[in-house]
Amino acid sequence: MNNLTPNALADDTARLSSLFGDNPDLLPLWIAEPYVELDPELKSRMADRAAVGWYGYEARPAGLLEAFWSWMDSRHGWDGSSLHAAVSPSIGTSIGVLLEQFTKPGDGVILQPPVFTDFKPLVVAASRSVIRSPLLLEEGGYEMDLTDLAAKAADPATTAMILCNPHNPVGRLWDEGTLAEIAAIAVANDVFVIADEIHADLVLPPNNFTPFAAAAHGSGARWAALHGPIKTFGLAGVCDTLLLTDNEEVSQRFRKESSRLHLTRNNVFALAAFETVYRCGGEWLDGLLQLVADNVELLASNLPEPIRVVRPQATYLAWLDMRGLGLEVPELARWLAAAGLALSPGHWFGRDGAGFARMTIATPRTLIDAAIGRLAAAVS
Ligand SMILES: Cc1ncc(COP(=O)(O)O)c(C=O)c1O
Repeated sequence: MNNLTPNALADDTARLSSLFGDNPDLLPLWIAEPYVELDPELKSRMADRAAVGWYGYEARPAGLLEAFWSWMDSRHGWDGSSLHAAVSPSIGTSIGVLLEQFTKPGDGVILQPPVFTDFKPLVVAASRSVIRSPLLLEEGGYEMDLTDLAAKAADPATTAMILCNPHNPVGRLWDEGTLAEIAAIAVANDVFVIADEIHADLVLPPNNFTPFAAAAHGSGARWAALHGPIKTFGLAGVCDTLLLTDNEEVSQRFRKESSRLHLTRNNVFALAAFETVYRCGGEWLDGLLQLVADNVELLASNLPEPIRVVRPQATYLAWLDMRGLGLEVPELARWLAAAGLALSPGHWFGRDGAGFARMTIATPRTLIDAAIGRLAAAVS
């Protein structure tokens, strides 16, 4: 993947300055998207689809699900083709519908911060309460506090949890044993598990992705897993995602609510993109993952003291431990902006992220070198 070039780094200046202040020379590495040339097969398919010149109602081709499952089987050894599958425009939409359908106003929903920024607003917007079960940072990386999780789940007011597997922002992959324990906790306490697995394909070798479905199989847990190509292939603006579950009632209620809200309309570009990347995107993705793995090594070897990278097992996000700088929450954000870096400050992911920052590292090496250089200059 030598021919990678930065894409347009699509951040608009107004948004950048509203979030990060007025430094005109900010390196924007805060949004979770690949900042590289996207898969040429995908670009060519999209250009062909645009050239058709007809963008009306288009039926969903029968082969799309087959393309998804054959991809999952070949990349992760996961054949889930017997699961129920429903299409949803976005992961956030699916979470909103699931919360509405399977929890009640006032119920508690467990999150494991530091965690993806959208979860909390989705829970709050649904008039449910966030129940925090923070991850623990140990010698070898982040772990779940399963004792705490079980205690929080035991509260009868707690009726759901949002699991992030792989975990954004800390890059952790959850193993089968941990996922099986979550399933057991969910069964024991009748907690619905929403498994957000949107980063599933961004696994850095030699690690492997275990779907929650595999661990929950036969456990009796009620769950839905959320998948799609949007993060892996840079398609967040051409939304199309999947909801998977082994529970017919969950599937039917999700579909019914999707119909009621008219969320089922197909987007012609999303249809074209979905099938193309799942049929042809393997080689491009292998190149991207190699690039990300190399960038992790670059950071691990060259970040200036006292900044360290918490090595990700998955995602193209680097979680930088900057606690050694001794800066409080607002100062760290200002310090980064003054250094010329638009990174996501860790507290955006919950108070447990204070002192950290998230950097997108699906970028050419030159940008990582530049970011390291800016951090080194600011530290000195
Ligand atoms: C874990 C996770 N879930 C969901 C999303 C966003 O998905 P969508 O835009 O489809 O709601 C992201 C985006 O970065 C994410 O990291």
